[in-house]
Amino acid sequence: MSTKTASTPDDTKDVSGANWWRQAAVYQIYPRSFSDSNGDGLGDIKGITAKVPYLESLGIDAVWLSPFYPSALADGGYDVDNYRDVDPKLGSLADFDEMTAALHAAGIKLIVDIVPNHSSDRHDWFREALASPKGSAARDRYIFREGKGKDGGLPPSDWESLFGGPAWERIIEPDGAPGQWYMHLFAKEQPDFNWDNPEVREDFLKTLRFWSDRGVDGFRIDVAHALTKDLSEPLPAKAELAAEDETTDGTHPFWDRDEVHEIYAEWRALFNEYNPPRTAVAEAWVHADRRGRYASPEGLGQAFNFDLLQAAFDAEQFREIIARNLAESQVTGASSTWVFSNHDVVRHATRYGLPKGPGRNGPAQAWLKSAGTEPALNRELGERRARAATLMMLALPGSAYLYQGEELGLHEVVEIPATDRQDPSFFRNPGVEIGRDGCRVPLPWTSEGIAFGFGDAAAHLPQPEWFSAYSVARQEMQPGSTLALYREALRLRGNLQTDELLKWLGGPHDSVLHFIRPNGWQSITNFGTGPVELAAGTVVLSSSPLTDGKLPADTTAWII
Ligand code: GLC
Repeated sequence: MSTKTASTPDDTKDVSGANWWRQAAVYQIYPRSFSDSNGDGLGDIKGITAKVPYLESLGIDAVWLSPFYPSALADGGYDVDNYRDVDPKLGSLADFDEMTAALHAAGIKLIVDIVPNHSSDRHDWFREALASPKGSAARDRYIFREGKGKDGGLPPSDWESLFGGPAWERIIEPDGAPGQWYMHLFAKEQPDFNWDNPEVREDFLKTLRFWSDRGVDGFRIDVAHALTKDLSEPLPAKAELAAEDETTDGTHPFWDRDEVHEIYAEWRALFNEYNPPRTAVAEAWVHADRRGRYASPEGLGQAFNFDLLQAAFDAEQFREIIARNLAESQVTGASSTWVFSNHDVVRHATRYGLPKGPGRNGPAQAWLKSAGTEPALNRELGERRARAATLMMLALPGSAYLYQGEELGLHEVVEIPATDRQDPSFFRNPGVEIGRDGCRVPLPWTSEGIAFGFGDAAAHLPQPEWFSAYSVARQEMQPGSTLALYREALRLRGNLQTDELLKWLGGPHDSVLHFIRPNGWQSITNFGTGPVELAAGTVVLSSSPLTDGKLPADTTAWII
């Protein structure tokens, strides 16, 4: 992009060629919560097009769009009615083409989400399956089974859906009698496809071609590790399945089976018919040892690692994760991926403002549930650490995935009344799960107005008053704002978009994380409690102001 500095070597920063994705900064847009152009409270495609200048000013290389397909929103759009259309609530295919052209004109690539494990229960194929008899070709596209017990009234197994409750739902047969059960790993509105069925395979190839022909540059593959299943009888009981959803030998009945890669090899052949080849990144919550299979050049090509996202703000943990993933990238040939926030997890500004603890959401989830009674969140500390973590991440070799709103330092929104909540994990786990709505609240563009500039009507998830201070308009007037930091960091990152790895400076147990890239660019992060001396050189950017020339706690500096 034109804002990138000229010193980037041409052979490595290859935004127009086949390797554009390897070192890209990818910005995730959750379309319904980004920008509302028509005042219906829901973000839309035209809203995104209108914000292309903003995206350009951020200095990102690509946008990843979460699902924008027709959907009843049982799971925020991850319940797809039709894979080859735009939700009329969000616009039309013509709007999509206009948005793609505007992004491309700004030098920004476009990645779209593909949801192949399940459709919605309103998909034509599922309706046809319900209207067709047992054993029919229409039913075979999904996973139907007879129930157990008297009159088949019990589910075929005791498996649970990821959103809570049973993973099977009983249907009413066309003759009006209760009948078979279908499998859904997620909400009951998300029936799982049967990937042994050739029609399913053909149809997804058609979908990938449809969007590739429209100029989409790449795909993010939802739950990429779940497609192929071994559901031969007798189905194992829940207790017999691995306790974790991460097995290591490919024998789990539905997670991370080896055969899934046959599908991705076929997809890769299709992607490579295009010039430049279409890219893909797998969302695969699998054991680290098996992640490389998804990232293989014969497969999807890249896979998310959610290791940093699951770690505490801790130098040793960060260093170990970075070293391990960079070593792995040498084996797979893919570039590493880094991510701190997305639409499924508590925002990292909030996670880092809470007491340390393990897990994807760990103490954050506990705090969210008890919000109001345990004021444990230190907002300022969380933001400060989030800025430090992100600045460090942007100096790493690999692709950096950013989630809308993190460039504003946004916190998770806790104060969403139960009546406004939308996430199925909230409804399927009464009193247990708070759900993921708190990171999906529409962005504040201005400090005032009915929806803080998101649109001309109240936003579909209520925005809290404190959003005012985080708005784009406000931060554009503040030189040291989080937005200003992201813009400058992304601009300077043009110097770092090479596959060359890093060298660690300092020991593995230091509370300072210090590394140098081959061009002499250093990143140094202070995870300790007091200020530390900086390495010699010029500080080109720091995530918080230096104190007396020293690097204060919870701060990253870039030095050349
Ligand atoms: C992925 C998505 C998540 C969705 C789920 C089911 O994990 O990121 O938002 O609920 O898949 O499609």
